[in-house]
Amino acid sequence: MKNKEIKINLEVYGSSSEMSAQDSDLVQRAKLATENAYAPYSNFQVGAAVLLENGEVITGSNQENAAYPSGLCAERTALFYAGAKFPNVAVKSIAIAAQTGGQFCAQSVYPCGACRQVMLENEMRGRQPIRVIMAGENEVEVVRSAHDLLPLSFDELKK
Ligand code: THU
Repeated sequence: MKNKEIKINLEVYGSSSEMSAQDSDLVQRAKLATENAYAPYSNFQVGAAVLLENGEVITGSNQENAAYPSGLCAERTALFYAGAKFPNVAVKSIAIAAQTGGQFCAQSVYPCGACRQVMLENEMRGRQPIRVIMAGENEVEVVRSAHDLLPLSFDELKK
């Protein structure tokens, strides 16, 4: 038996002034998008902003439903809309933010497993890494590739 170790690198920003203008603009847009969330069941309003290679920014928010699994996360709402509107344009980066009880989350908001899987497929489709910017009020954490968030991934296209 041998052991394999998987390491990921997180860029950690203590304030928006440490971030690039592009990242901090995307975080602002994700925060704004939380206002459009429909989250009467969880009261957890998530916003996502997707920057495309052609400069377009697509935003999304979580949309819940009384039949709970029918709802959709902010990240997938934004990514699927980006794919529907610009099918052949690669995704450069995605920012995620959330608020609950009128307060933005202090810690970074990490995407759920299903959203990671969708980000990864977008990354492979666009043939370039997607920068994932996970915003919190206290700090913002960034991975340079969606693959870092889902290292041992299922990938039907590989077969
Ligand atoms: N949610 C997202 O929008 N993104 C995630 O990555 C995790 C969770 C939403 C789903 C649900 O509407 C609410 O947050 C509470 O789980």
